[in-house]
This record gives sequence, C-alpha cells and structure tokens, in this order.
Amino acid sequence: MAETPDDVLFESFDFDDVSLDNRVGLAPMTRTSATDDGRATEQMARYYAKFARGGFSFLVSEGVYTDHEYSQGYLNQPGLVTEDHVESWQQVTDAVHEAGAPIFAQLMHAGAISQGNPHADETVGPSAVQPVGEKSGLYGGEGEFETPRELLTKELVGIRQSFVAAARNAEEAGFDGVELHAANGYLLNEFLAADANQRDDEYGGDVENRVRFPAEVLEAVDAELPDGFVVGVRVSQEKVNDDEYRWPGEEGDAEVIFSALSEAGADYIHVTGTDATTPAFGDTGPTLADLAVEYSGDETAVVDNGGLGDPDAARQAIESGSDLVTLGTSALSNPDWPKQVAAGEDPDPFDFEEILLPKATIGDHEVPDADVASLDD
Ligand SMILES: Cc1cc2nc3c(=O)[nH]c(=O)nc-3n(C[C@H](O)[C@H](O)[C@H](O)COP(=O)(O)O)c2cc1C
Repeated sequence: MAETPDDVLFESFDFDDVSLDNRVGLAPMTRTSATDDGRATEQMARYYAKFARGGFSFLVSEGVYTDHEYSQGYLNQPGLVTEDHVESWQQVTDAVHEAGAPIFAQLMHAGAISQGNPHADETVGPSAVQPVGEKSGLYGGEGEFETPRELLTKELVGIRQSFVAAARNAEEAGFDGVELHAANGYLLNEFLAADANQRDDEYGGDVENRVRFPAEVLEAVDAELPDGFVVGVRVSQEKVNDDEYRWPGEEGDAEVIFSALSEAGADYIHVTGTDATTPAFGDTGPTLADLAVEYSGDETAVVDNGGLGDPDAARQAIESGSDLVTLGTSALSNPDWPKQVAAGEDPDPFDFEEILLPKATIGDHEVPDADVASLDD
C-alpha cells in the first residue's frame, strides 16, 4: 500500500478489543446466497474474504435472521439460530480473519417487510399497518406487503431473547461483534418510525417510547456478551420500501434516539441513508451522522454510510466527526477500494445491472477461481 501519512481514511481506530487498520469498512449487504435452511456457504466465505484482502478494515455481514419464527426476511438469507448455522459461519469468519480483518454479524428481524420466510405464514410488526411500497424483485418478491399482525407486549420478551441467542451464536461462530439492524424498515426500525408504530403501550407513542424496544434489545445483548465483543446498532430514517420517511420530531427525535442507544451500551451507531452528505431534515442543517456525533456519548463511535464512494466524500465524513465510514455499492464494484485509494487510483463507478441484476445473489464472477487459490495458500 502506498504511503498515505496525512490521509484521515488510513488512520487506525480501536474498539476495546478490536483494532482496525483504517477507517473504511464494508457495509452490510443481503445477497441471499445461503442454503435453503440458512447456512453460510464456501462461496460466501470467498466473497467476504475478498473485501478483507482488498483493505477494508472491518466487514459487516449481510442481515442475518435471529429466530425460526418471524425474523427471516428473504429466502436464502443466512441465519444464526441453529448449531448448523454456527458451524457454517465459521468458514466465513476464519477466511476473513485469515485475510486480516474483523467481521461483525448484522442481526436482523425483518418485521412487517419480510417477503420470504419458510417458518411463518404471516408477518408481524409493532402495529397492524400495511407497509407502503412493494416487495423487492432483486430478492424474488413482487406485489404489496401483507398487513402484519400486531405483536403482543409479552411477545417482545421472546424477540429480545432471540437477538441475545443469535448474538451468542455469532460469538461462537467467530464473529468479533454484532450490529443490531434498526435501519431500513425492518422490525427494530419499525419501532422507531411513527408511521409503522402506532402502539399504545410503553413501546409506542412519543419517541421515548418508540426507542424503548431497540434500546432494550441492545442493552440485553450488551449485558450477555463479553466486554470486548463489539455491539453496534444501525439506524436510518429511510426504509427500503420508503426513502422519503423522516422522523416527525426531527432533531428532537434524533436526540432521544441516539442518546438512548448510546446509553444502552452501543459501541457504535451506524447511520445510513441514500446520501449521507445531505441534511437529515429539510434542505439545510446537520446530516444524520452530525446528529449521531452530537447526541451519542464519548463511548459510542459513529459510523457513516450512504453515497460515500468518492474518496473525498468519505474523507469529509471523517473530518466532520464520524469515526468510520462504510461502503456498499462502491465496495461491490471495487472490492479493493481501500487499497486502490491508498495507491492514488480512482475507484470504478458502480454498475447496478452488471452486479445486481437479475437477482442480488453473489455472482460467480464476483468470486473468481483466482480467489479460491489464494484462500488455499
Ligand atoms: C444488494 C444490497 C443489499 C443490501 N442489504 C443490506 C442489509 O442486509 N442490511 C443493511 O443494513 N443494509 C443493506 N443494504 C444497504 C447498504 O448497506 C448501504 O446502506 C447502501 O447501499 C448505501 O450505501 P452505498 O451508497 O455505499 O452503497 C444493501 C444494499 C445493497 C446494494
């Protein structure tokens, strides 16, 4: 790697027990390439290891389902529920560690926007509100979402426990941490969102109540896992099915949400949206990352994501106060983005059709034979 002494992107960063070589990580991306029963594959091991070899200092896995009830969102999504799941992920974590990076498992309950779950014939959510938008064709879905069944207050205990159990399984499988998925319209995000959450118990209504369940899940996971195991949380306003959605209380909601998640023990808050450089609300004002930096405590790192594939945009995010950035689509088109940028090269633009159509599964061209050989070295 070329010398880059003054580049903020290439400064190291430390969680308590997990050291990162630079500030650029891989964003979580669902690729629906697991076996029918949710086991990670050797192809997935090669796929993830490729980003570690390309210089990404940490990887966040695709969203992984947490129970055999309502959490699975997509067919061929991987899980962290059974011993077979744990064993299957070990080949992935080993390959990534061998290539020199830590990897965090993103734990996801799909909630009302589940569109492929062999374990249930209905969906659940905070309230019986039909999600706007349509199922994703990239993952084999079509048409409207069903109206979910409203979760009973007592069911939330079981869901919280399934996140804890999945986090323990992640640790057993060799992951260095977990990221709770409270972004993009899935269950924990539905609790945060006033349109999806119309509950009248202590988990709905004002923003203090709406953040309660995600914060309780975080606190429970943090309490049950060893100290050095990283526990982060991902937060967005936008949903995969509604990129216009914004919190009604604007900055006041952001203050409550980020401070509650930070106080619940988040080692990092990973904010995301289509374009991280734009104001969180309206035409002017702070970005979502600015608000996370302002309202989370010193013990919580901020990870910024969304449209940061231009190296100067990524640098700007770090210079504005985020600790780390992650790249999604730019990583797919440039699995060695950090190495390229360190060498002064320009990353390639993202080619959606080439990489993600007709389906978002991992293509053989993404894990060529050369990678197999280098893994075996
Ligand atoms: C194919 C694909 C799958 C994705 N799956 C997930 C996911 O499982 N969990 C998640 O939090 N975000 C997911 N995302 C969103 C990305 O993590 C990221 O937030 C988004 O692509 C914007 O960042 P970018 O501009 O760097 O691509 C996905 C994005 C893509 C393109």
